[in-house]
Amino acid sequence: MNPNKEPVKVGIIGQGRSGWSIHADFLRSVPELYRIAAVADLIPERVRQSASDLGCRAYPDAESLISDPDIDLVVVATYNPTHAKYARMALRAGKNVLCEKPFGLAAADVDAMAADAKAAGKIVLPFQQRHYEKDFIKVREICESGLLGEIVRIRICWHSFGRRWDWQTSRAMAGGNLNNNGPHPLDHALTLFGEAEPEVWAEAGGYLRSGDAEDDLKFILRAPGRPTVEVELSSIHAYGQDRWYVCGTRGGLHGDEKHLEWKWVDFSKMPPRPLDLASTPDRSYNSETLEWQTGCWNAPTSEINPGAGAPPPTGPVEDFYRNLHKVLTEGAAPTVSLEQARLRVATMEKIRAAAGIPAMLP
Ligand SMILES: NC(=O)c1ccc[n+]([C@@H]2O[C@H](COP(=O)([O-])OP(=O)(O)OC[C@H]3O[C@@H](n4cnc5c(N)ncnc54)[C@H](O)[C@@H]3O)[C@@H](O)[C@H]2O)c1
Repeated sequence: MNPNKEPVKVGIIGQGRSGWSIHADFLRSVPELYRIAAVADLIPERVRQSASDLGCRAYPDAESLISDPDIDLVVVATYNPTHAKYARMALRAGKNVLCEKPFGLAAADVDAMAADAKAAGKIVLPFQQRHYEKDFIKVREICESGLLGEIVRIRICWHSFGRRWDWQTSRAMAGGNLNNNGPHPLDHALTLFGEAEPEVWAEAGGYLRSGDAEDDLKFILRAPGRPTVEVELSSIHAYGQDRWYVCGTRGGLHGDEKHLEWKWVDFSKMPPRPLDLASTPDRSYNSETLEWQTGCWNAPTSEINPGAGAPPPTGPVEDFYRNLHKVLTEGAAPTVSLEQARLRVATMEKIRAAAGIPAMLP
């Protein structure tokens, strides 16, 4: 599509925190790549205001936007239970689709979307913008470099402390930490795990939220030959721990979104230590001096990296949408493929089963 590199014509369904504050906010800043052609929302004042600010067509519901023939890409930014329904409707109307997370509530949703996309010759992809977070990219680079040796265990903590009382805390709305923020650390976890099907252990609880969905979740992904990846996504941590903790056979890494540090030992430059079964001399304990080598990373900001004429660092939303434009116009590889999206949704089903969170049927 789009051989002349005309801007991609976008219709955004939902004009809330995501549809307006993330998608419209960015898309309006790159008119050479995308043009917001229409928005839809059930709240009349909201959609009127958006359409007037954006200079685009306004629709009172998802269905009427999907029927608009002059839209190339539909962004689904509605409540969680409706994502697959509107994504499929838009595909069947011959549109490409970018769907907010969670990208369906069951692997069967993804299979149905994939079948519709294939039949229509269109693409459907998850909005997985935090795949471009710079701390995650750095952690991945260090883990894959081999510097830390074999990666045995990774812990990812998304800790916070606070109450919440909106629809994202209600099971009937497919809320809860897993469906809400969970797709982001799960994407990071499965990438570092190596895109394989994991065995899953999980537990969940609800403590400070007003609805009945979980606000405290821990899950562990395991498989032979893979690092064990633990994820804590919890709103009851008054003392939040490091977002990243990596344990390898030559060293480790820890840190957060702004700063990471790692250290490693080169055992090949140290004396060999063959097993010695005799009692130790002078009742001593094994001890040797480790020659640590260290590295660190600071998140780029325009203040830290003013560099003459250097462009400001791009954010994850921009990086995601620039890639998506290449997917749509040049056939580039997507940020997270449909197959990877299916693995993520199927893993969410396993986490729900392991933690006793009721299945979220569409
Ligand atoms: N990727 C991210 O970082 C990110 C961030 C925030 C939200 N989200 C996701 O975006 C989705 C929306 O969340 P939100 O925080 O924007 O919620 P919100 O309540 O702020 O906005 C949702 C909007 O969708 C509208 N809407 C619902 N059903 C509709 C329909 N059938 N037709 C037209 N409009 C409809 C509502 O009226 C509301 O204005 C959720 O699935 C959420 O998980 C993703």
